[in-house]
Amino acid sequence: MIVIAGSASPKLSAQVANLLGAELVNAEFKRFPDGEIYVRAEAEVRRKPVAIIQTTCPPQNDNLFELLLLLDAVKVLGASRIVAVIPYLAYARQDKRFKPGEAISLRTVSKLISQSGAAEVITIDVHQEEALGNFSIPAFSQTAMPLIGRHLKSLDLRNPVIIGADQGSMKRATLVALELGAEHYFLEKRRISPENVVIYPKNLSVENRDVVMVDDIVSTGGTIISATKMLMEQGARDVYVACAHPVLAGNAMERLKEAGIKQIIATDTIEKDVSLVSVAPLIADMLK
Ligand code: R5P
Repeated sequence: MIVIAGSASPKLSAQVANLLGAELVNAEFKRFPDGEIYVRAEAEVRRKPVAIIQTTCPPQNDNLFELLLLLDAVKVLGASRIVAVIPYLAYARQDKRFKPGEAISLRTVSKLISQSGAAEVITIDVHQEEALGNFSIPAFSQTAMPLIGRHLKSLDLRNPVIIGADQGSMKRATLVALELGAEHYFLEKRRISPENVVIYPKNLSVENRDVVMVDDIVSTGGTIISATKMLMEQGARDVYVACAHPVLAGNAMERLKEAGIKQIIATDTIEKDVSLVSVAPLIADMLK
């Protein structure tokens, strides 16, 4: 197999190629003066299977378009099969029509990906598993939560309690808690606006305990900040955040620090300073 690194996932691509013992090709990316994107993947791929690894974090439209160009270029070079590895799948949260007239964004994204040449899609911790039903080609998601749980074991957490940020994160919190042998709960939330989230109070036994808030994505930080306030009022000792995808839009990082979060532990589905856990072994396994 040949691994082609997209510009948004350079380190992860190298690690996956290394684990697979596969050839790594760094594609060439340029921008024309008017902002258009240029891509060239110079590789001997004829009749060979190829994995293109490109995450679609912000700027998601640019990263997505680069992936589409790469898929098309590699298809024309004659690859026998192309797997699109999209560690963070953009637009996955708009996977259905919530109000009349809305675009089902993920459906459009899925069509573009398959029509550009992907035979299969691999992702990590997709927001909701059912969202993958929008793809007409095989699409699989693997969870990084057990890996995150193992990382948390190396921290000296005091009587930890694992809390899913909302009902959707209950399963994720359970997987993390299983690794730690810790108690777990989930919270109930309502989003008023993109940044304004209400968490319904729950009486949890968090007093003087370290709390790990678990979510798939931290974007604006609204969910986590709102939950942290409640947990601190209930006497939590330190609040940690564990997530697969550190989108951290705008000034989310500063807002999370101001809210008193002790540490953010995320994966390299998006390569950031907080990406302390690598999903490379998961991706390599799925590509085998
Ligand atoms: C929503 O259902 C997700 O699981 C996350 O809780 C959400 O996307 C986080 O977004 P934000 O950081 O903007 O609150």
